[in-house]
Amino acid sequence: MKKKITVLPGDGIGHEVVEQGIKAMNAINNVFEHHFELQVHDFGAISIEKYGIPLTEKTLKNCLESDAIFLGAIGDPKYDNDPTLSVRPEQGLLKLRKSLQLFSNIRPITTYELLNDASPLKNERLREVDFVIYRELTGGIYFGEKKISEDKSIASDLCEYSENEVSRITYQAFEAARKRKNKLTLIDKANVLETSRLWRRVIQDISKEYSDVEVNYLFVDNAVMQLMLNPSQFDVILTENMFGDIISDLASVITGSLGMLPSSSVGIKTALFEPIHGSYPQAKGLDIANPMAAILSVAMMYEYFDLSQEAEMINNGVNWALKNGIITKDLNNENPSACSKVGDVVAWFIEEKGSVNIKQELTKLSLNCII
Ligand code: IPM
Ligand code: MN
Repeated sequence: MKKKITVLPGDGIGHEVVEQGIKAMNAINNVFEHHFELQVHDFGAISIEKYGIPLTEKTLKNCLESDAIFLGAIGDPKYDNDPTLSVRPEQGLLKLRKSLQLFSNIRPITTYELLNDASPLKNERLREVDFVIYRELTGGIYFGEKKISEDKSIASDLCEYSENEVSRITYQAFEAARKRKNKLTLIDKANVLETSRLWRRVIQDISKEYSDVEVNYLFVDNAVMQLMLNPSQFDVILTENMFGDIISDLASVITGSLGMLPSSSVGIKTALFEPIHGSYPQAKGLDIANPMAAILSVAMMYEYFDLSQEAEMINNGVNWALKNGIITKDLNNENPSACSKVGDVVAWFIEEKGSVNIKQELTKLSLNCII
């Protein structure tokens, strides 16, 4: 298969984790004889430094012409700490999402038994936790009209949704539920917000076409509590942009590390794949960041291209590395492996087509994997 991929490493640890994802991609393409043409572009703070804006027209054009985008992370404390700056890295991400109409952000939350002790939740609460968040990504308060009064003492952000914006992601979420455990939970604030009541109405209508899917409704304040108390009750969570942002960070800690969670954003044509973690600037260049989320995002890309065997092999590679303790500092402070080593190991597992002689190779790895 031939594909055109735009790679946006972004800022901070973005470069390091993306490099490991590309190792996995190259290994898969060798084994399965696919040809992916990669084009790397600056994006985020690094693009502001070089060109004055976080997303240049040239980069955007390249993204629009690609089959998929592989993104690292964006952001820099310089911008976070100064709200008066008018140009910010995040604007690039929002523009990219809007231009590509990436209206559906999919964030699977999977637990790995081997990482249970890294989770702040008790082990018994982690049993059978496996759900996916469908977050609306191009509407709501993120994109509504923003106002600030002349004397700058009053500000407002409009939260607006149309039926069409709600229904297109709702169909995707119902389809996903059908392939999973047939359960969908809408998270909203329908006791207060008009937009939430619109979401409920649209979902109630569409649910008639999916009588095999059980639908539940939760107010967001209750939902965050439920996510901590009983996360295994969820299958597909559907929610609007802002709630989805907050809920997915909260949900990520269940797994034990933000460094384990991939995501995809899909819309009309080109899809985007990225780890859900940020740019972790303190770790930049230290080769300590967890590349698993980036590698798993590459697996989601193959899944999106309907190449399930390829996706599975990457997932198996990640599981193999976990099982053999080839993990970064966030998961094992005592004997961590470097980010680049984790990437090497997963790529090597793929190159060997998964048939590795564990005992023999472990000897090799234990020598290789100490930072
Ligand atoms: C995310 C991020 C972004 C968001 C930021 C960087 C604009 O937090 O992808 O979750 O809020 O959507
Ligand atoms: Mn976020």
